[in-house]
Amino acid sequence: MNSEFLQDVLAGLRLPQKELPPKYFYDAQGSKYFDQICELEEYYPYRTELRLLPQVGKELQAYFREKSITGIQLVEFGAGSLHKVKPILQELTMVKQFTAIDISGEHLKAASAELADIFPDLPIKAAQGDFTKPMQLELSDATPMGFFPGSTIGNFDPDDALDFLRNARVTLGSGSYMLLGVDTKKDQQMLEDAYDDSSNVTARFNKNILTRINRELDANFDPDQFEHVAVYNQQLGRIEMHLRSRTDQQVEIAGESFQFEKGETIHTENSYKYHPAEFEQLASSAGWTRECLWLAPDDIFAVMLLSSGDNSAMPR
Ligand SMILES: C[S@@+](CC[C@H](N)C(=O)[O-])C[C@H]1O[C@@H](n2cnc3c(N)ncnc32)[C@H](O)[C@@H]1O
Repeated sequence: MNSEFLQDVLAGLRLPQKELPPKYFYDAQGSKYFDQICELEEYYPYRTELRLLPQVGKELQAYFREKSITGIQLVEFGAGSLHKVKPILQELTMVKQFTAIDISGEHLKAASAELADIFPDLPIKAAQGDFTKPMQLELSDATPMGFFPGSTIGNFDPDDALDFLRNARVTLGSGSYMLLGVDTKKDQQMLEDAYDDSSNVTARFNKNILTRINRELDANFDPDQFEHVAVYNQQLGRIEMHLRSRTDQQVEIAGESFQFEKGETIHTENSYKYHPAEFEQLASSAGWTRECLWLAPDDIFAVMLLSSGDNSAMPR
């Protein structure tokens, strides 16, 4: 039994507002569900960002050439199926090495093998790991650039996002860059539909965390006794996903009992939305400077290039 997973689950469910860390969505099945979410009409962030990336890649190539940078080592955090890095690699031909980090190890391994078929000359490293923990990367002398697409940064509370950005700046080192996808504040209905689709794929993704707890932690959740809920919390600027108990019930996890009242929820994920200027401010508090900004039509999604702020005299 994975004791860290067990401790996190028990600690989260002992809180007055029960919660589970969203990183545990991503077992092999959870990663498959996420790929299905990306295919949904309602889930605009995936295709909107993907459409921006060929232009982003082209402009990055010109930007780095202008700075006399000839080699980039790219590090993707939460790499998933590696769909987003393809347009970047196609355009940004100065990438000398690519490292993909994800918590979902088997899924990442398969995606990396596929990527290696498309880019046979590129050294690719697939690293199973948790980006909320300190990371040590083997860096070469090419300029490091982090890549954090998918608005995954929005899954952190702002304080944790700040910590992630600070740590990434240290991990990537001086003279580094970070390319980030950020989902923006917008019409409430459009936001809620994206996280509560009509074919219930997101509901299956959300409930998969219970199935995983049953399988890995000797628990007896009945996922059918919980209902998927996604609401936009306007005040905090975040989509909240919950699992709401349909009835009064008791669940056993590794010998400990948890009571659920009818209507009580487990808070499973936040997705914070940022105005680009708001995000820029957050990044700046972590020591990053915004270099470029790409906005999708109607400003529904933003991609930003940040620099670590000490890049001027460092062509590599
Ligand atoms: C919202 S998905 C984005 C996937 C992909 N980057 C995209 O843009 O389509 C989040 C990804 O981050 C990974 N992930 C979530 N929490 C993580 C953690 N703490 N450490 C490493 N990877 C994590 C998940 O497995 C998943 O692949």
